[in-house]
Parts: sequence; structure tokens; C-alpha cells
Amino acid sequence: MGDHFTDHHPAYEKMASSVFQDVEMASPIEVFALIAEYNQDPHQDKVNLSVGAYRGNDGKPWVLPVVRTVEAQMANDPTLNHEYLPVAGLPDFRTAACKMLLGEDDQGIVQNRVCGVQALGGTGALRIAADFLKKQMKYDTVYVSNPTWGNHKGIFKSVGFSNWKMIADVCAEKKLFPILDCAYQGFTSGDLDKDAWSCRYFSSRGFEFFIAQSFSKNFGLYNERVGNLCVISTTSDAMVKVRSQMEIIVRTTWSNPANHGARIVASVLNNQPLCAEWPLVVLVTGIISSSNEECSVTLDSMSGRINMCGLTPSNIDYVAKAINSVVTGAADQAQQSRI
Ligand SMILES: Cc1ncc(COP(=O)(O)O)c(C=O)c1O
Repeated sequence: MGDHFTDHHPAYEKMASSVFQDVEMASPIEVFALIAEYNQDPHQDKVNLSVGAYRGNDGKPWVLPVVRTVEAQMANDPTLNHEYLPVAGLPDFRTAACKMLLGEDDQGIVQNRVCGVQALGGTGALRIAADFLKKQMKYDTVYVSNPTWGNHKGIFKSVGFSNWKMIADVCAEKKLFPILDCAYQGFTSGDLDKDAWSCRYFSSRGFEFFIAQSFSKNFGLYNERVGNLCVISTTSDAMVKVRSQMEIIVRTTWSNPANHGARIVASVLNNQPLCAEWPLVVLVTGIISSSNEECSVTLDSMSGRINMCGLTPSNIDYVAKAINSVVTGAADQAQQSRI
């Protein structure tokens, strides 16, 4: 061996230290730190309302029956194998995913101006979108929504505006590039088409835009990391060029995506009887935060969202009491500070 591996090499003289010694400790990732705290909490009635995932009444993760059906079919299908997927992902999945989002009769789809790039969950779709926009388009500013006074929406809606129409107007006027994040299609109304309204509206206005699509929640496939980046362009020629650049980004990021979850989604979306078995639950979003010492309820403390699936017939009274005590406690404190 060359002498750069001998005891005299400076790296060996500093053996007691590490090349990583100056690396700073990162702050904990909020939601995972919260789950770790929940797991360590000895409280016997603790309730976990944090990460948004399906749960049965026993509080245990629930696999959708249609997912079980397709997995059994896949396990018994000798034609399936573990070859690498194409860089842009499973074709049947990408096509079905874009159609689910925009509708089969979307003009972009009919005119071949839309493509999907399979991604590692909705997060992966957002990541490759950001990468493309920064590298290829040289964009360096992103505007994201901020929670607002709830009545703004009500007032504008009541005179015939919808927020999405206003957002689309601003995007058109300021020539902004829209990226929509669709992580819960079907969960708001229980209807896939209704929940995709904003995506379809942007498409009908002729925007060029991206939609990051996640199947983590509506298929309960969280750790399978199934997502799709839907690219909507005004010409097929431009779409093909964008897709080629996306493939370069994918190749250098995760090389090519995983098959299992994408195949499950594609099998359901492309098969009417299986699709009919696919239940969609309505997600109720609540703005509730904090916990107190007598009760132990773990919420998504950053956003104030709660996972309604964590509520079961056996813990709902307990959670209601905990929320009541936190809210009235906070109200009492506010009252005192005014005095
Ligand atoms: C609004 C929103 N967008 C995107 C994601 C990311 O989804 P995925 O787990 O598929 O990466 C989530 C996940 O919680 C989400 O809530």
C-alpha cells in the first residue's frame, strides 16, 4: 500500500480527534422530535395527534384494504420483477397521477403538454421542482402563503371571489411561476375532482406551472415515498425539454425512483373496480395547540394542525377536556394580564 496510509500521516497523528469535530449539531426536526417525546412520555392516557396518518380506533396504523389487495396481487404476479424503473418513474403511475389531478379531459393532457415525473413523495416533487426552477430558470425568490384573518376568505367568497382566483390573478399580473402543493387530494371534500379544483383552474387559465403531488396520505403509503411532479407547459416541445432536464436532476438526486408504492397507486387508478374500493376520508383541520401537565396530548405544534385519525371513541372525551383546560387556562391568563 502507498505510504499515505502509514502511522506518520497527519490524519493519524490527530487520531483522537475527528474530521467531523467542527460540524455543528443540527437542531432537532420538530415533528420527529415531537414523536420521540410522545414515545417517551410515560402518561398512560397519552394521545398522539401529531403526524397526519390513518389510524384505527385502536390508535394503530391502518393499511387501506385496497392496498392490501393490490399488494397480494403483486406478490403473486410472476411477471413483476425488481428491475430499475426509468429515471422519470413508472409510466402507468405518472400518467394516471396527472389525470387524477387535472382530469382526463384537461386540454394540457389532451394536447400532450403535461408530463409527470415520479418523485420520492410530495417532498421529492417539491425538491426537484425547486431544483429545476433555481438551476434552469434562475428564479431565486419564492412566495408562500401565510395564515390570515379567516374572515378575509369569507368576505371575498361571499361576493363571488375565491382565493384561488385572486392568487391566479396576482400570478398572471406579476408573471409569477406557480407551484401548487397537492398533498391531500380527496381529503377535504371526499371527492377527488372537487379537491383538484384549484389545480384545474390554473390549468384552464393557461398557466405554465408545476404541481407537487403526494400519495402518502390518500393511499396511506407514507414510508413508500410515492409522489409525482406534474409539469404543465404551453407546448409539447417545451414539456419534453423540461422533462429531459428533470431526468438529469432525478439522476443526480435519487437516480431512479422506487417501484412498489407507485405500482400500487397505478394499479388502483388504472382499474375501475379497485378504484371503487378506494375509500377517501374527509380531513377536518383544526387550529389547536399546546398541552398541559395533567393531560398529555401531542399536537403538531408548529402548524397547530391535528391528526383527526388520532381521535378515537375512547380518547375523545379526554382530548376535549385537555383542549378545554388549555384554552380556558389561556383565556384566564389573558384576562389576568389585562387586569
Ligand atoms: C402540505 C404538505 N405538502 C407536502 C407534504 C409531503 O408529503 P410526502 O410525505 O409525500 O413527502 C406534506 C406532508 O405532510 C404536507 O402536509
